[in-house]
Amino acid sequence: MSQYRSRILGMGAYVPSNVVTNHDLAAMMETSHDWIVERTGIEERRWVLPGEGGAEMATHASKQALERAGLTAKDIDLIIYATLSPDNGFPGTAVFVQRMLGISEIPCLDIRQQCTGFVYGLSIADAFIRTGQYKNVLLIGSEVHSTGLDKTTRGRDVTVLFGDGAGAAVIGRAVDDKQMILSTHLHADGADAEMLWLEYPASREHPRITEEAMAAGKHYPSMNGKRVFKHAVSKLPAVLMEAMVTNNVQLKDIDMLIPHQANLRINQMVAQMIGMPPEKTHNNIQKYGNTTAASIPICMNEAIELGKIKRGDLVAIIAFGAGLTWGSCLVRY
Ligand code: UT7
Repeated sequence: MSQYRSRILGMGAYVPSNVVTNHDLAAMMETSHDWIVERTGIEERRWVLPGEGGAEMATHASKQALERAGLTAKDIDLIIYATLSPDNGFPGTAVFVQRMLGISEIPCLDIRQQCTGFVYGLSIADAFIRTGQYKNVLLIGSEVHSTGLDKTTRGRDVTVLFGDGAGAAVIGRAVDDKQMILSTHLHADGADAEMLWLEYPASREHPRITEEAMAAGKHYPSMNGKRVFKHAVSKLPAVLMEAMVTNNVQLKDIDMLIPHQANLRINQMVAQMIGMPPEKTHNNIQKYGNTTAASIPICMNEAIELGKIKRGDLVAIIAFGAGLTWGSCLVRY
């Protein structure tokens, strides 16, 4: 049996320079800055400009994470790319990042767990390192939502929420228990798969998309917001509790909570439910909206840059999203 354990060696993030404010959205559809802020906390988000995609953003974030890990791209043994918005139908986007990083041969794995993608990716990276099969894993969450949103009033309940961006972490071998991924906890429930989904184009349909489906806007994401909200506020505290019980850790032992950035109200409600003081939670949805698989690494990277997370701190990560999927991770950073 291998005795290896894993740790986060370095993190990085990248968001496009193009800022889209709530007022900009109000010029496209019937919505308002006040409605969006009151219901979600979001003030602005970033949207890519032509010429930039998920792989480019991921490459920027990865280079920063590698530099902070004290490694180069040649030291990476595996790339995991979490996204719900791959640059193309196939191949997966990880191979494009591999190419942009100037490396080849190493395996590239795209994963599809939406907003929980980064937590699933942490679990996969941790498992590969524990077995000894790989030493350094580059884990990326990267999303381009803006090119696939309904920018009319019909899509306003979804479109105002999402933003583009990328975050990355280099996961390597732990040398002691002062910096270590302690455990990951993954869940899914397909019973509610259609609660938040992008139905078309669909390979199970003949043809994959019709004019009728497009006229009905079925090539845009759709969501039952209220039900997703309820799911989030019940599952997030439960999956955090699961991580705490597994590691015999109490709330007071956790230095920082990094929740998925879907809605500031959800995160405030969850923090209140579990009794986590606001200064021990970091949120940045106000600036970036919901970047799905990228939201955890963008948020955690910012907390590190702000000095809110220091080496050796106990960090709890919680996420939920389409699938439905949800999960948590306890990390001694
Ligand atoms: O990471 C993915 C997971 N996704 C989520 O976590 C999302 C969870 N859900 C939510 O965050 C909230 O449900 C939303 C922010 C999406 C919506 O907030 P809500 O308080 O549940 O509003 P609602 O859907 O009940 O809509 C209330 C009203 C409706 O009008 P009527 O029927 O009361 O006349 C909507 O048509 O607000 C209207 N509305 C809007 N108005 C202005 C919906 N979207 C908008 C909008 N601007 N963008």
